[in-house]
Amino acid sequence: MDVKELAARHLEAARQRSLGLLDPVPEQDLMAQHSPLMSPLVWDLAHVGNFEEIWLLRTIAGLPAKDPQLDDIYDAFRHARKERTRLKLLDPAQSRVYISDVRGRVLDTLDRIELNPANPLLADGYVYGMVIQHEHQHDETMLATLQLRPGEYPFVEPEPGSVEPIAAKEVLVHGGSFLMGTNTEPWSYDNERPAHEVTVDSFWIDTVPVSNRDYLHFIEAGGYEEGRWWSKRGWAHRREQGLEHPQFWVREGSGWSRTRFGRREVLPLDEPVQHVCWFEAEAYARWAGKRLPTEAEWEKAASWDPQSSVKRRYPWGDSDPTAELANLGQRLFHPAPAGSYAEAASPCGCRQMIGDVWEWTSSDFVSYPGSVSFPYREYSEVFYGKDYKVLRGGSWATHPTAVRNSFRNWDHPIRRQIFSGFRCARDG
Ligand code: AVJ
Ligand code: FE
Repeated sequence: MDVKELAARHLEAARQRSLGLLDPVPEQDLMAQHSPLMSPLVWDLAHVGNFEEIWLLRTIAGLPAKDPQLDDIYDAFRHARKERTRLKLLDPAQSRVYISDVRGRVLDTLDRIELNPANPLLADGYVYGMVIQHEHQHDETMLATLQLRPGEYPFVEPEPGSVEPIAAKEVLVHGGSFLMGTNTEPWSYDNERPAHEVTVDSFWIDTVPVSNRDYLHFIEAGGYEEGRWWSKRGWAHRREQGLEHPQFWVREGSGWSRTRFGRREVLPLDEPVQHVCWFEAEAYARWAGKRLPTEAEWEKAASWDPQSSVKRRYPWGDSDPTAELANLGQRLFHPAPAGSYAEAASPCGCRQMIGDVWEWTSSDFVSYPGSVSFPYREYSEVFYGKDYKVLRGGSWATHPTAVRNSFRNWDHPIRRQIFSGFRCARDG
């Protein structure tokens, strides 16, 4: 398929997803602030359209802004998330009109845009890929907001795939160099580039993510009461916030339930744990006699085929994700049981590296050597440094176009409203 046709299809699919996700939500809930951590849903919706207008209409097609005031309202850096209900936001109906007007004009201009390979913004349809991923990323953010919102949200729930027994709980990845990052992934973000050789020592890594059952053992062993498992900052945070279990867990007598999109249900013990912050992941790992993998270890375990010395786009190879290979794009509305997707394991035997839960790594979000900010500093560069930890692999709420082995996500180590879990590693 040619790149423009591919872009048009992906744009359409992203829009159907955005509108579909918000369809069941009442108007006032779209305008409301459900958590100080999140924007009102209607902000995300119009922000997606404003981003598309800025890049695909103004930058690429050279069209003027219809309403320059919108740029201020929908600039993520000008107003904190918790302030956004006070802005003159477009209401839900106006937002839908605005984004569909932008989209109509984008499709109108598509014919006359030349995807000049000498222009890095246009080569391989890069800027279209960026806008498509951006919309899907905000859809995942909206799912996190919907999970925080008190009301019931309707979700469909197909059966997850089967869980094949695992040969071993952890595997040894031999030391040596591998290729981290990418130069060839056409729609990769600046922070994934350039590809560079990284040498890691031998390490063990868990073949599946830490499950709710595993994590419950930590709780029952008094993990939240003992400072020795926690880092200094982690322990201070756990005490200040009174953390006693992952977010959305509810103690029910001697058992546990959880709330999921407004519904209470028995805690599924086989699922990977989610809604834990980095400090909780770190404490669990120390209690288990392990540690979090570094970002490099994670990527090597997910992508490196030592037999051929070839790097894979996904753990299973280079083919695009399908429902048989990974749990992505809110097909299930929850992580699949730990140990699912045996056929999609990475060369070293790790399962569920892509999809299910974002996996915390021990690494700070820093730029790769020789990396160049492109096409705007505010996607990655302004976040580089010690304030953010890297998460890898995407969650059940991540769309296939917005994740791959080289994809890097980041957040503050205290955040857990995202669909975050982890797997453990240890020195080899
Ligand atoms: C990469 C998920 C951290 O949501 O803050 C959306 C993605 N960047 N709009 C975020 C993003 C600009 C970003 N994360
Ligand atoms: Fe954004």
